Amino acid sequence: MPDDVVTMDKIVSLCKRRGIIFPASEIYGGIANTYDYGHYGVLLKRNVVDAWWQAMIGDRDDIVALDSAIIQHPRTWEASGHLAGFTDPLVDCRTCGQRFRADHLDAEHDVRCPRKPSVLPGQGPDCNLTEAREFNLMFETTIGPVQEAGSTVYLRPETAQGIFLDFKTVLGFARRKPPFGIAQVGKSFRNEITPGNFIFRTLEFEQMEMEYFVPPDDAHRWYLHWLEARMDWYERLGIRGDHLRLRAHEQDELSHYSSATSDVEYLYPIGWQELEGIANRGNFDLTQHAQHSGEKLEYFDQQSGERYVPHVIEPAAGVGRATLALLCDAYDEDEIGGEARTVLKLHPQMAPVKVAVLPLVRKDGQPELAHEVRNLLRRRMQTEYDEGGSIGRRYRRQDEIGTPWCVTIDHQSLEDRTVTVRDRDTLTQDRVAIDELPDVLAGKLEAPWISPKLLVED
Ligand code: GAP
Repeated sequence: MPDDVVTMDKIVSLCKRRGIIFPASEIYGGIANTYDYGHYGVLLKRNVVDAWWQAMIGDRDDIVALDSAIIQHPRTWEASGHLAGFTDPLVDCRTCGQRFRADHLDAEHDVRCPRKPSVLPGQGPDCNLTEAREFNLMFETTIGPVQEAGSTVYLRPETAQGIFLDFKTVLGFARRKPPFGIAQVGKSFRNEITPGNFIFRTLEFEQMEMEYFVPPDDAHRWYLHWLEARMDWYERLGIRGDHLRLRAHEQDELSHYSSATSDVEYLYPIGWQELEGIANRGNFDLTQHAQHSGEKLEYFDQQSGERYVPHVIEPAAGVGRATLALLCDAYDEDEIGGEARTVLKLHPQMAPVKVAVLPLVRKDGQPELAHEVRNLLRRRMQTEYDEGGSIGRRYRRQDEIGTPWCVTIDHQSLEDRTVTVRDRDTLTQDRVAIDELPDVLAGKLEAPWISPKLLVED
């Protein structure tokens, strides 16, 4: 695989420069591992989430949607095992006051002491680390104005538990029987200590989780089904196949609830890292919640008279990590007419803006016609109008946010109602009649696509 020009620093800098994603609370100096998404970031992230809903709900009949509360009854987390077991081992340094994960002190994790010389924590002459102690990752808060016994609640560390709590209710109204799934997208919160590598690991993040309830004997078959389906989904987003892999967890890596887990990993500039986990959770969660709540959480098959607690296969993905993978996979640099260009070669369906409409000059009726063209396109796809600066600079601005097509209105457009369509990747410019433009662009948007970076690699 040839060297990719992308680095995490370049992604961070492009995202900040173009207002895609930037540090939160910046006017107060920022807050660790917390980011805000600007206009193009929101559009990109929304495309990721829409593609996930399409794969879960649009393309299938066996999955229903849910949006459960972030704050659930505190006993949820007793039953799920999070109160007792959702911990990281931490050490403090008595000299610099920093806190580190005890299991991330090795060279592989490359976490550095904040003091000079830059060494691994514990390796400097003044380092003075405490013994490791377990630290729960759930954020606590209280219900009501005063902190009193029984008022402590938690921000959910995963969306999954809301699905298990609602299993019986959903089963009642969804008119489904196993195998069937419940899908949810929403924010989760974890008090992460490890430095985040931009949006890879943040304190709050959106998850796209689906719990697929199956007859116990079918669990392994469905686990294999979801491994394949989820890998396919990332490839359909345009991510290069040679930058994706499935990695099965070793026995000692498995979460307390899981009998088998595989991660979909992406080759980020920081190395192979988890994009999504796909777990066979068995009947752990439904059994635990049944025991703690006293409710029967099982399926009764009226035809066969069989009663069982379904097993659960869970594909659990992070919106931020998928967005970051798309950005890293698309980032490229090249030269046009001797000038350096930064470009995001995103799958057109993922691009925040599909088409930019640009009058060549700000006179002679060109802006008026450009607005007309923009209005023609905006109902079909995300469109942007730009008349500021030279045409070359405007193309560059669109390249940086990954806009696949720029439509230019020039003097000929006023004579024959045609425009040029410039392609971000091939740089070709085709003349198209304005009347045909919406269908031509919609056709391009639906056309099969592979990353132009792969074509270069070949
Ligand atoms: N319900 C199972 C579960 O939550 P997980 O592997 O802990 O499993 C699922 O999380 C996905 O959520 C991860 O693969 C990752 O994409 C995302 N994720 C987890 N922690 C994250 C964090 N601190 N920041 C950003 N994304 C995170």
